[in-house]
Amino acid sequence: MPKCTIDGKEVEFKPGENLITVAKRAGVDIPVFCYHPGLTVVAQCRMCYVEVEKMPKLQTACSTNAAEGMVVKTNSENVKKGRAGTMEFLLLNHPLDCPICDKSGECDLQDNSYGHGSAYMRHSEERRTYVDVDMGPVIEKNMNRCIHCTRCIRFGDEIAGIREMVAVKRGNNVDITTIDGEALKTEYAGNYADICPTGSLTLRDFRFRKRAWMLKKTASICEGCSKGCNIELQHEGNVVYRTIPRENLEVNKYWMCDEGRFNYHYTQDETRVLEPRWNNEKTSWEDSILAVKTALEGKKVLFLVGTDLTLEEMSAIREFTGLYYPGSVLQHFGTPGIETSAQDQPADKILKMTSKTSNLRGAEKLGIVPHNPRVDHDFSAAVVFTGGRAVLPELGHAIQVGVGVFLDKDHQTAKYQHILPGLAYTEKDGTIINHQGKEQKLKRAILPRGRSKSTAEILMLLANKKTKVGVA
Ligand code: SF4
Ligand code: SF4
Ligand code: FES
Repeated sequence: MPKCTIDGKEVEFKPGENLITVAKRAGVDIPVFCYHPGLTVVAQCRMCYVEVEKMPKLQTACSTNAAEGMVVKTNSENVKKGRAGTMEFLLLNHPLDCPICDKSGECDLQDNSYGHGSAYMRHSEERRTYVDVDMGPVIEKNMNRCIHCTRCIRFGDEIAGIREMVAVKRGNNVDITTIDGEALKTEYAGNYADICPTGSLTLRDFRFRKRAWMLKKTASICEGCSKGCNIELQHEGNVVYRTIPRENLEVNKYWMCDEGRFNYHYTQDETRVLEPRWNNEKTSWEDSILAVKTALEGKKVLFLVGTDLTLEEMSAIREFTGLYYPGSVLQHFGTPGIETSAQDQPADKILKMTSKTSNLRGAEKLGIVPHNPRVDHDFSAAVVFTGGRAVLPELGHAIQVGVGVFLDKDHQTAKYQHILPGLAYTEKDGTIINHQGKEQKLKRAILPRGRSKSTAEILMLLANKKTKVGVA
């Protein structure tokens, strides 16, 4: 492998890698604004200045590829002066908004100003201001804070596949806006807030709900479709406040869709059933478990598992039904019309898949067959296990038991004689298999809400002959 030297350290690189990537490997962080590893390089902001031996002027590290024998300095006096000059220029028009800006605490402009800017400013002219257009329900625009890095324009063009953000006018009057001031159309708009290095584009859903530095972060997987995008659940006080994408170059690269980003809301819906129900009335776990066991006794039972459950949950259910209800039927359900992974196709050219549950491949791996609502099944009781995302099947008038996440919305709970509340994807660990066959791990971000219990615990209670033991 060829080698170059960065701040006195010899580093190997692959041909074609730029100095930002190579320096990172050597443990050196070069400040950037316009550069993003998932977008084309434009070298516009001049924040990533470095000194390269034998080159007369400072170079931009984002647009300079490493070369054999290259000697690079990232912290010389010349580099510091260049970066301070860039910061002074970028801050000429930036408002002193940090205390009331939602980006505060996770803002590249703040961090780079602190790390590379100057404490003094020579300019005394009035700052430029804009009247902002409405960008739709996902993104709030504040162009006074924009530094014209054009990441948003490139994201629309290169990733979302829709040229909807543009730079109009020139020089001091340049305005980054949507074409004709229209609302954003992409279903991936949340990424605009992630990549904007300032508080110019922020997420409406998250604004002013929590300060960034108060959030705890849990690396998990989106359950919105079979893509299995890698995400970070950000939470505090047992409440999830935000989901952002996590880099995985083999699955979702740096991005996620809005459907997946905002999906977590249902888990905190005020109509979610958080205590056992019997004929839609609240009851105790003890009474519920006894009643469910009695209701299922001697019946031919249809067990249905949502493909939104983890591999471990499905496997435990399969074992439970085989042991305690031999002769019963076990099938999976999830997205109407997508019964097998062969039917699961890309829903667009970016990330989304047509299976709207995360673990169809997991159910198939365990040999669980799809439920076919068109076939008239001969059963006198049905038990439906769901993580809350799978579309619940219509099951006629047999005794129905629901285990998992149910919402009272649309009175769907009224159709179930019994509901045993289980855990949502934000509240449990487990494995899911995405459409590529890749096993990925869900991680518990928050504790179970209300009096809900894990699937394993519920199965143990149902299997327990002394039903009163351990039932709270
Ligand atoms: S809105 Fe944000 S991402 Fe777009 S150009 Fe301005 S600073 Fe960059
Ligand atoms: S593409 Fe699928 S897995 Fe990825 S964020 Fe969207 S819903 Fe979630
Ligand atoms: S990050 Fe290199 S010029 Fe902007």
